[in-house]
Amino acid sequence: MIRLKELMARGTEFLGTEWAILGGAMSWISERHLVSAISNAGGFGVIACGAMSPELLDGEIAGTKALTQKPFGVNLITMHPQLNELIDVCSKHEVTHVVLAGGLPPGGAIERIKAHGAKLIVFTPALALAKKLMRSGADALVIEGMEAGGHIGPVSTSVLCQEILPHVSEEIPVFVAGGIGRGEAIAAYLEMGAVGVQLGTRFVCSHECIAHPNFKKAFLRASARDAIPSVQIDPRLPVIPVRALKNREMENFAAKQREVAQKLDEGAIEMAEAQLQIEHYWAGALRRAVIDGDVESGSVMAGQSVGMVKREEPVAEIIQELVEEAAHALGSR
Ligand SMILES: Cc1cc2nc3c(=O)[nH]c(=O)nc-3n(C[C@H](O)[C@H](O)[C@H](O)COP(=O)(O)O)c2cc1C
Repeated sequence: MIRLKELMARGTEFLGTEWAILGGAMSWISERHLVSAISNAGGFGVIACGAMSPELLDGEIAGTKALTQKPFGVNLITMHPQLNELIDVCSKHEVTHVVLAGGLPPGGAIERIKAHGAKLIVFTPALALAKKLMRSGADALVIEGMEAGGHIGPVSTSVLCQEILPHVSEEIPVFVAGGIGRGEAIAAYLEMGAVGVQLGTRFVCSHECIAHPNFKKAFLRASARDAIPSVQIDPRLPVIPVRALKNREMENFAAKQREVAQKLDEGAIEMAEAQLQIEHYWAGALRRAVIDGDVESGSVMAGQSVGMVKREEPVAEIIQELVEEAAHALGSR
């Protein structure tokens, strides 16, 4: 346990937690219950703002604060049309850590986040961008491989870690995400220079997660090979792939892409609008599955570590298991 604490020290100090384990923001389900449970168990919960309005985010932060005294973060998506207002809501509540997802932040967003003393965590898909984000004021980085659930990049976690960690890990805390199902993997990434990790898939079947029972059942039945990336149908419409369990919805997405590509061809919409329509589509598809329980025509976003989700259990037990596995792996080196 001592070695694990040592390797996580920069991460726990940065987050203000017992363990440097972030619960990655998951749209619709990373709300007050799951977020507070992760923080109360010694990890770091992150609210998924997703497409929420500033008013809804305001209520969710207040609700989370009522359930935990421990630190937690808020994940904002850079393409949200009201990004500035959302940042202001975080400042009003003195949110200590803001996580930015979805690419390079628009001008002024970073300054706005940091003006009230919040720490800024950003996702980076490549070394060059990591360096640029560090110069722009990022306080910590998340590198997420294509094994992850939800929106994914093209490169695996193991390769990203080799490409990025040796070059930046001394200068800035780096958290690793994507495909982590057990503590042994946490130990390995810490030894490579990460200060902590981020997991999403493993927390979906926690008791505290509000995901529909059908969504959790689909997770419990699935194996790694069932969590597949969506396919780009039209080369003119670049869509960020989404990893989810194989089902009818994957075919619906093909039809949606054809529909949006046709609107692009006809000049009815611009590329930015086309991409926003695709994002709204995903948010709706995930909601149908994770909230309404329609796991056939909704999107069951899941990472490849889904095969390691074996039962429904409290968040505290999941974190305990991960920590024990990591400590045991390090102890036996
Ligand atoms: C159901 C689901 C929804 C997700 N939604 C979001 C999101 O809204 N914003 C985001 O930045 N990441 C999202 N993610 C990614 C997670 O935050 C996290 O980085 C990822 O799950 C880590 O990889 P893992 O699934 O292999 O543990 C989502 C993941 C899942 C499984």
